[in-house]
Amino acid sequence: MPASSLVKSVALAGAGTLGSVILPELLKAGFVTTVLTRKDSNRDSSFPSGALVKEVDYASSSSLVDALEGVDVVIATLTDRDAQVALVKAAKEAGVKLFVPGEFGNPTTNIEQSEVHPIIYGKKQIQDSLKSVGLSALLIFNGPFTDTTFNAFLGFDTTTGRIRLVGKGDTPISWTTRLDVARFLVHHLSTLTSFPSPSEPAILRIEGDRKTYNQIVDIYRRLHPEQDVRVEYVPVKEAEKIAKDVQSDFIKSFIEFLLLSWEKGATVDRGHELDNARWPEWKPKSVEDVLKEQA
Ligand SMILES: NC(=O)c1ccc[n+]([C@@H]2O[C@H](COP(=O)([O-])OP(=O)(O)OC[C@H]3O[C@@H](n4cnc5c(N)ncnc54)[C@H](OP(=O)(O)O)[C@@H]3O)[C@@H](O)[C@H]2O)c1
Repeated sequence: MPASSLVKSVALAGAGTLGSVILPELLKAGFVTTVLTRKDSNRDSSFPSGALVKEVDYASSSSLVDALEGVDVVIATLTDRDAQVALVKAAKEAGVKLFVPGEFGNPTTNIEQSEVHPIIYGKKQIQDSLKSVGLSALLIFNGPFTDTTFNAFLGFDTTTGRIRLVGKGDTPISWTTRLDVARFLVHHLSTLTSFPSPSEPAILRIEGDRKTYNQIVDIYRRLHPEQDVRVEYVPVKEAEKIAKDVQSDFIKSFIEFLLLSWEKGATVDRGHELDNARWPEWKPKSVEDVLKEQA
């Protein structure tokens, strides 16, 4: 049984890149755990035993409200804004007490539409929908996932040793693995003693490690002395152009926006104190731990 007498039942919407890591932690902690999955999902693996599985249609309010009956907390690990807004409304109608929206990145509470990518602004719109229906929210800010970032898709090609980074690479960045995010969130829910006010979301700002990109390149070089590691430093102005060009290539513009935001200190400098000390036994992985595992 979970330690919390407040939260007994949790619904996880979308068990993808992050949700698939949160799900086993919820089950281990003893929550009655329901996974929401789309009827037309193209996922190719099954869910762990112990999880209740409900097929939903995010376009059907009644399918969502039915699936959330008796649920205390919804964790949305979806990336689709409209699906999440529909889920927020249904959660309110079903009597859910706390909603954890699909944040799990850089702090987004003080952003302006004109300065962020539409994907990031979508997160702000979901926060607004939570406020407008009057549902308590918990926002988790953890910076980039350490275990999904060092790959060619994000410019860190470990096969060729070619690394493309934006700016000078000297800005401190918050890094946290998906498992450490999942552990912290589940611990938080297990020990919760009250729900936050619907007028102001609770925030958990956590960080597994803090390293600049150049420090990470140094660690990587030390771990791979045989590889000819070359770094391309893309000027900020050039990256800004790519990030703003959402019309030509939406995903490319988003990746560039992320790299830029890290260089500009968006992962650490948004006025939120770290909450790591709330759970001293957390002991998250460092960037070096992860790079060693990936070696
Ligand atoms: N900090 C970081 O580095 C980082 C990296 C990646 C993601 N994130 C954040 O983590 C959260 C979860 O992202 P993720 O990468 O885990 O998501 P994801 O793997 O892309 O998707 C999660 C699940 O959402 C469902 N889904 C997909 N398309 C949908 C749609 N159009 N409508 C409704 N449901 C849909 C799917 O589940 P079913 O098929 O079962 O329905 C999918 O498995 C987001 O908030 C994202 O911003 C952070």
